[in-house]
Amino acid sequence: MLSTKSFPVIEATLPIIAERISSITPNFYNRLFTAHPELLDGIFSRSNQKNGTQQQALAGSIAVFATYLVKYPETTPETMLARVAHKHTSLGVVEEQYPIVYKHLFDAIAEDLGDALTPEIAEAWTEVYWLMAHALIKIEKGLYAQQANAEIYTPWKLVKRTETGVDSVSFSFEPADSTPATVAKPGQFVSVRMPMTDGVRQVRQYTLSDNIEQTDLRTITVKLDVNGEFSPAIHNDLKIGDVVELSNPYGDLVIENDGSPLVIATAGIGCTPSAAALQTLAANGSSRKITVLHADQEFGAWPLREQMLESISKLPEASISTWFERGELPEGLNAKSGYMNLTEALTEDAQVYLCGPLPFMHAARTQALEAGIPAERIHYEVFGPDVWPAA
Ligand code: HEM
Repeated sequence: MLSTKSFPVIEATLPIIAERISSITPNFYNRLFTAHPELLDGIFSRSNQKNGTQQQALAGSIAVFATYLVKYPETTPETMLARVAHKHTSLGVVEEQYPIVYKHLFDAIAEDLGDALTPEIAEAWTEVYWLMAHALIKIEKGLYAQQANAEIYTPWKLVKRTETGVDSVSFSFEPADSTPATVAKPGQFVSVRMPMTDGVRQVRQYTLSDNIEQTDLRTITVKLDVNGEFSPAIHNDLKIGDVVELSNPYGDLVIENDGSPLVIATAGIGCTPSAAALQTLAANGSSRKITVLHADQEFGAWPLREQMLESISKLPEASISTWFERGELPEGLNAKSGYMNLTEALTEDAQVYLCGPLPFMHAARTQALEAGIPAERIHYEVFGPDVWPAA
């Protein structure tokens, strides 16, 4: 909770900080990477750095956190904190790095605001930063402690690659050392770290898409983005027998079994967590009412289609509807042309899980809210950095 001294200062300065955040952010990263170039080798994504809006996730989230402290002083934004903490732990962020980020962020704020940054304002925002940092550090320590080992990365060897849908490939890895591996939950992801052609290591998070609870096999599904850096490297350069580094499994988009009807709505490669969840629900003989909705560019592009349909066929109360932007519609599968409409599938007591690119998520979430589903029953996973806070 914010101190009574800082509360009015934050309330008064939030609009200025929110407005300046897009010019503070590049300055912050410049300072951070000049002082700590090692953070660009295997921690921060350089593709995200090139993309101006995505850069704002970190700094933007502090403004969102401050808004929250002002609006709901008794609570903390658990969902946002958990998402960031899971991402951080998958990247190996540690407590000792928080003062470093603090220094460069606040130097950037000071430079941007100049004389407008009085000691009183600086102090109030410092309080916000550390409230958030301590909340994150606490969750992150808890997450590290739940793992079967104390490593951030362990080596895993590529043993199988399977084409699944146009431009999507599933990669399966076996452990390349004897470190005990954590049992993953469906919906969780791992960080994959590997060197790019210039030797600089890059990291991406991928959902585990198959054999979820097996600790001697990790499978991820990667959609090729020809304009990206990482997915072309993994698609084109990684050969059977090659070793990459994988983190322990993290992620809080785990489907809880409270028995209420499930609506799982996904678009494109966003279906990976739902494929994992459906496989586990089928393996556990779930008799829950499950409505699966999937939208894709065309039928052939749908990744993990066979795996998902096989799981659905084993679930007695599951049904599927699909939407395709172009191409011929398949037989059955309640296939329609165009964009997804969730409304028909929603019942008041449904738990809704959404996963896909940001525009899809905005549209799907709006439909669910308009249909009267309370926000706490709408769970989502954005692929890529979550820029909702900054937006
Ligand atoms: C990502 C917030 C401290 C390293 C993020 C994201 C947020 C965030 C919102 C985006 C998560 C997403 O993808 O949805 C914060 C806040 C911090 C903090 C509020 C302090 C209070 C740190 C520290 C480090 C760090 C100390 C360690 C150097 C990273 C990295 C990413 C990240 C590497 C992924 C970014 C990328 O590669 O694009 N953080 N963070 N963060 N954070 Fe933090």
